Amino acid sequence: MQPNMEKLGAYFADAPSDISLQDIDIARIPRHVSFIMDGNGRWAQARGLDRSKGHVAGVDSLRETVTCSVRLGVDVLSAYAFSTENWKRPQREVNLLMHLFATTLVKELPLFHQEHVRLRFLGDLEALPAETREVFQRGLDETAGYDVMTFALAVNYGSRAEIARAARLIAEEVAAGRMRPEDVDVDAVSQRLYTAGLPDPDLLVRTSGELRLSNYLLWQLAYTEMYVTDLFWPDFDRWEYLRAVRAFQGRGRRYGGVVNS
Ligand code: FPP
Repeated sequence: MQPNMEKLGAYFADAPSDISLQDIDIARIPRHVSFIMDGNGRWAQARGLDRSKGHVAGVDSLRETVTCSVRLGVDVLSAYAFSTENWKRPQREVNLLMHLFATTLVKELPLFHQEHVRLRFLGDLEALPAETREVFQRGLDETAGYDVMTFALAVNYGSRAEIARAARLIAEEVAAGRMRPEDVDVDAVSQRLYTAGLPDPDLLVRTSGELRLSNYLLWQLAYTEMYVTDLFWPDFDRWEYLRAVRAFQGRGRRYGGVVNS
C-alpha cells in the first residue's frame, strides 16, 4: 500500500546523524519484512532485571515495528514470537509469555483498528492456553476486513513441523484421490503452509547478532535478504528499521540469475 507521505515525514522527523528518510527509496520498500525478535532476556539481564521485563519491553519495540511498517507502506509484517522449541523454557517464563501475548493483543487491538491492520497467526494454536487462543480468535475476527497491512505473528511455530504438516495434507489428498502425485509442485506445498497466500519475505531482520534461522520460515526465506543487528530486540526502533531497509535497497537481488532486479 502507498504510504501517506505526510504521516511518513512526521514519523521520521528528528533523525539521528547516520540515517534519515532521505536515505530510503520509498518506491522500493520491501513488500514483506519479517523479524526474529531476539535478545529480550539478555537485554533484561544486562540491566539486572528479571528476563520477563525484557519481554515486556519487547512489546514496545513490536508496537513501534508495526507502526513503522504501516508508515513505510510495507504490505506484510511477520514476527517470530514463540517457537515450537520455546516450550522447553522454564514453566514460569512460558506462562508469562502466553499471558503477555493475550494481554498485549487486547491492549493493541485499537492500534490495528486505527491503522487497518489485518492479523494473522502462523503456527499450531491448538496447544496454546484457552485464554490466549480466545483472544487470538477475537483479533482475527475483528481485523478480518482490513487491508492496509497484514501482521502475521508466529506463535508455537516451527518450520520443519510446518513443512511436514503440508506434506501430510498433500498425502491425505492424494490418498483420497483428490490430487495426483504429479500435481505436487512448489505452489502445492506453498498453499499448505501457514503463510498460504502471503508473499515470501523480501527482508529478514534478526536482532542480538545471532547468525541463525532457528527453524523460522525455512521454505519461505529461500531468496530473502538478511539483516542482522547487534541491538537486543527491546532496543530495536524505527531508525534501525530504516538502516535495515537501506541495507536491503543496497543489495542486488538475482534469484539465482545474473540480472539485478
Ligand atoms: C526472544 O528473546 C524473544 C522471545 C522468545 C519472545 C518474543 C516476545 C516478545 C517480543 C514479547 C511480545 C510479543 C508479543 C506478540 C506480545 P529471548 O528471550 O530469546 O532473549 P535471549 O536470547 O536474550 O534469552
